[in-house]
Amino acid sequence: MKNVLFRRKNLEDLLKKKGDVQLQQTLGAFDIILLGVGAIVGTGIFILPGTVAAAHSGPAIVFSFIIAAIVCAFAAMCYSEFSSSVPVTGSAYTYGYIVFGELVAWLVGWALLLEYGLAVAAVATGWSAYLSALLEGFNITIPKAISGSFNPADGTYINVPAIAIILATAFLLTLGIRASTKINTIMVFIKVGVILLFIGVGIFYVEPANWQPFIPFGMNGVMSGAALVFFAYLGFDAVSSAAEEVKNPQRNMPIGIIGSLFVCTILYVAVSLVLTGMVSYTKLNVSDPVSFVMQIVHQDWVAGVISLGAVVGMMTVILVMLYGGTRLLYAFGRDGLLPKSMYELSKKYKTPIKNTWVYATLVAFCAGFVPLSKLAELVNIGTLLSFSIVSIGIIFLRKNKSIPSSGFKVPFFPILPICSFLLCLFLITQLSVYTWISCGIWFVFGLLFYFAYGKKHSEMNKE
Ligand code: ALA
Repeated sequence: MKNVLFRRKNLEDLLKKKGDVQLQQTLGAFDIILLGVGAIVGTGIFILPGTVAAAHSGPAIVFSFIIAAIVCAFAAMCYSEFSSSVPVTGSAYTYGYIVFGELVAWLVGWALLLEYGLAVAAVATGWSAYLSALLEGFNITIPKAISGSFNPADGTYINVPAIAIILATAFLLTLGIRASTKINTIMVFIKVGVILLFIGVGIFYVEPANWQPFIPFGMNGVMSGAALVFFAYLGFDAVSSAAEEVKNPQRNMPIGIIGSLFVCTILYVAVSLVLTGMVSYTKLNVSDPVSFVMQIVHQDWVAGVISLGAVVGMMTVILVMLYGGTRLLYAFGRDGLLPKSMYELSKKYKTPIKNTWVYATLVAFCAGFVPLSKLAELVNIGTLLSFSIVSIGIIFLRKNKSIPSSGFKVPFFPILPICSFLLCLFLITQLSVYTWISCGIWFVFGLLFYFAYGKKHSEMNKE
């Protein structure tokens, strides 16, 4: 029994499999950084800083962002070592398969499906709200009944814009990663441009008095703020799923993952400083803080441009997270833990069309009907669980002598991976009991599925 559940893959087999059905290797380091910034910068910067500063951290939200960035940087280094040593798709799921065996791998993958899926659904819902606000500016109103999740008491039944953006993104993904990254690149430039515009204009309206008191809610506020703004950094892990489509992954994956995290941290810290410097943090409890403060200082055109940038910016998060989910299903299908159709590629576009539509439809259903306010925390717990497995997995990776060790190496081994593991566990303790229970239910379903299907159909049975 033990042997079956903890059977491990070896890297040579995985690399050999890559030869059978090949994704195309077209991406360089800069593409990965763009993919990373595309996945990371979204709701987190356009919506979160206001509410978190007002209710948790005050101007010290800057510290919350820095603490969350440190946790992510540690995890990012562990991800980089894995993705440069094990350049196969499936991210933490595949890494888990190599070092911990099938059952842990399946559960990590199951957690990631939840993370990517709910992140896409949550961001699509936020996107829909920003789009409605933007269209209002042009006197176009989306009927309320079709612009919110199912809540008859409030007069909303289905969130059509959220469903539409997810299905449109899925269509784009089926056309191929190259086409998708081209569009991603354009959108990332718009998004970063809008953020730089905000910083460049806003800095002239900063009044240092607004930074007093700097830490109004003490260190507790800073820490709970960090657990919340952690969401803003999610996405860099999805980038590691691109490993099979990257040229020279040993070099390019670490540069891409760590580089994108670095760029985002600088942007987040700068935006939070300017934001809390322009207006007292007590006034920032609004859903569109970044354009809101521009209206306060009567820079209405900047506010409009920022809303437009936010709409564009959130689309790239949807794109990359959805991409991560489809590549995960692809890896599940390849390994026999899900039906083989998840592993089929379209002959023309070389993309997993079937799994893209299955995943996008399920996620679109969530975005369209399910109110996501409570489910959003689940995104964080799924991620933190996989971060902790990847971090501690580095110790086992180094012990495995069959894996080539020429790629990127985590510095200060083994202290850094252990710190990363403990920091992730600490942030998990900061989440609510509700989240723990919901996450537990999700895992029970995962286990049921594994014992009913995956265990019997696993490719490992053939070995
Ligand atoms: N990091 C992503 C965002 O902030 C999930 O939208």
